[in-house]
Amino acid sequence: MPNKVLVTAALPYANGSIHLGHMLEAIQTDIYVRARKLTGDDVIFMWADDTHGTPIQLRAREEGITPEQLVARAHAEHMADYRDFGIGFDIFYTTHSAETEHHAGAIYRTMEARGDIVVRDIENLFCPQDQMFLPDRFVRGQCPRCKSEDQYGDSCEVCGSTYDPTELESPKCSICGATPVMESSEHLFVPLSRHESFLREWLSSERNRLEPAVRNYVMSWVEQGLRDWDISRDGPYFGFNIPGHPGKYFYVWFDAPIGYIAATQKWCDDNDVDFDQYWKNPRGNTEIVHVIGKDIVYFHCLFWPAMLHAAGYTTPSRVNVHGWVTVNGEKMSKSRGTYILARTYLDHVAPDYLRYYFAAKLDASQNDIDLGMEDFANRVNADLVKKAANLASRCAKFVSSRLDGRLGPLPPDADRLIERAEDRLAEAAKLYQRFEFSRATRLAMEIAEDFNQYLTEAAPWKAIKKDPEHARAVCSACLHASKIVAAILKPVLPEWAQKTERFLDLPAPLDFANGGDRLPEGHVIGAYEMLAQPLEGQLLDRIIEASKQGLETKEPTKPPYEVPELAAETRIEDFAKIDLRVGKVIECKPVDGADKLLSLRIDLGPLGQRHILSGIARSYAPDKLVGKHVAVYANLKPRKMRFGVSEGMILAAGEKNDAITVVELSPDSQPGDRIS
Ligand code: 2FM
Ligand code: ZN
Repeated sequence: MPNKVLVTAALPYANGSIHLGHMLEAIQTDIYVRARKLTGDDVIFMWADDTHGTPIQLRAREEGITPEQLVARAHAEHMADYRDFGIGFDIFYTTHSAETEHHAGAIYRTMEARGDIVVRDIENLFCPQDQMFLPDRFVRGQCPRCKSEDQYGDSCEVCGSTYDPTELESPKCSICGATPVMESSEHLFVPLSRHESFLREWLSSERNRLEPAVRNYVMSWVEQGLRDWDISRDGPYFGFNIPGHPGKYFYVWFDAPIGYIAATQKWCDDNDVDFDQYWKNPRGNTEIVHVIGKDIVYFHCLFWPAMLHAAGYTTPSRVNVHGWVTVNGEKMSKSRGTYILARTYLDHVAPDYLRYYFAAKLDASQNDIDLGMEDFANRVNADLVKKAANLASRCAKFVSSRLDGRLGPLPPDADRLIERAEDRLAEAAKLYQRFEFSRATRLAMEIAEDFNQYLTEAAPWKAIKKDPEHARAVCSACLHASKIVAAILKPVLPEWAQKTERFLDLPAPLDFANGGDRLPEGHVIGAYEMLAQPLEGQLLDRIIEASKQGLETKEPTKPPYEVPELAAETRIEDFAKIDLRVGKVIECKPVDGADKLLSLRIDLGPLGQRHILSGIARSYAPDKLVGKHVAVYANLKPRKMRFGVSEGMILAAGEKNDAITVVELSPDSQPGDRIS
């Protein structure tokens, strides 16, 4: 029986949108999972949102919603972003779940019973106005070293020094501006040093557990001495109560990784699968593989294995650490327009191109990955379009149009190249298992290069005149190569592989074992399906422009491969999905800095109130709309815009910005009523 393999990506925080930094990790994890599935491994991809902690609590407060509402909205948004990038998770759950609470409680109680929890009083800054202890990032004041004003409670952005929040001079609460006071409270700590020998063994026993560079620096932390870890926070705190300690909550980093376990529990319960074989199998051969960024290594390579070990759960078999995404050689920046949200990207360019580009640059190291916009277009066009797609399209179209779509025997003069291609497939399958994606994709391109050259030299379009069977054999060899290329690329470009399966009319979905199988003589192929089209540089400029201006709300640009005159045909059922309701405008204000937008508060009767941003400011003075009844697209997913979240749309139409008419309903209509 193959090992059970459980793979995770880090859980994104629920208080922010998914950007291309998150996408790098999601794509890396997805490719790994798909590759292992294609090898025949028994793999599940467990994932969730990370929902607890002060930033989420405060963000919800700022928006005037409950943390639960914020978390629900983020969940829907995150899941859609990931799905639209083709990320094939088995579950995308939430840490705000009964399963997390259960396992956090169980882990905590076991640790407490074995002496792994100690209680100590600590002094912390407390805001008398907000009645809460302030985390470091919520205190600002003068840096105790260089005296710069308005620095965070834990570090100074000017001189770079780090310090204790209590050292900050003239501290102020960054929520309300009041001066915090020192207060003492009881906290619960895990004395990590109790697990030093386990951690040393865990860090050094398995060669593949960590890349050597990661192992070295984690080991250096162990050498420096393991500090006690504070796992409790005082209320009010959005999180779970610590059993037996009223008023104390688990620190978000205690229950976040438990979200991996909770997602598994939920998935196992829903699919009638035995949970214990994954997480309660510490001496078995279950593999737990975490994919994370280099900022959270401390949590995943010290706290987390120690917790799991102490509580008798399965410990990770591999933690794969990647670097940051930079754009055009620099850190992502909002003002430069390089802080690109996943959704903004998707509005302009097909996800497969980024999947390929990241794959072509990823390896097992923590090196940063640069998304150079020019390089991106060049790479996609050179590799996917000119090499891989070109080979398949030239041959498939030629065989279909000139040779009855029928394949022949593979020609002896291609034997050596075919053998090499088949070896490369086997090699690529192994590289994926080691997170060496750039080498795997390079092998696919080398095959395409070899066969493009072979095709050009053999020139079947000339040969067909004298020897049609030779032309058929040449094309058959090249289509065999295209099939191998598609098998290698399948973890990265699943759709590409599916199209290939269809147009070659393969007897079974491609995998690493059958990718090299030869199609029989006489096999008839289907109609070629477009695999890739050139990526236009302008589209990338538009992403930057949209990110700069927060134009995520703009009409999405069609990807280059589908430019129909009319949007795709829809059915009446699609229209029926739109829930239109009567809404009464109760407030309408201009939006500072956005001359086209109005900010409306709309009453939907029993459905509550909505905040809607609408691009009608050039056509309506704000006071003209107050009191009016309008048609509201009420089940539209809330959309984060530069000027706030818009929770719906009001119906309006017009050809120009200054000639828009809002659909007005009778003043007798009832807010919240359905409109048909
Ligand atoms: O750094 C982060 O974005 C965290 N939300 C990652 C959590 S990973 C796991 F521990 F849940
Ligand atoms: Zn305050």
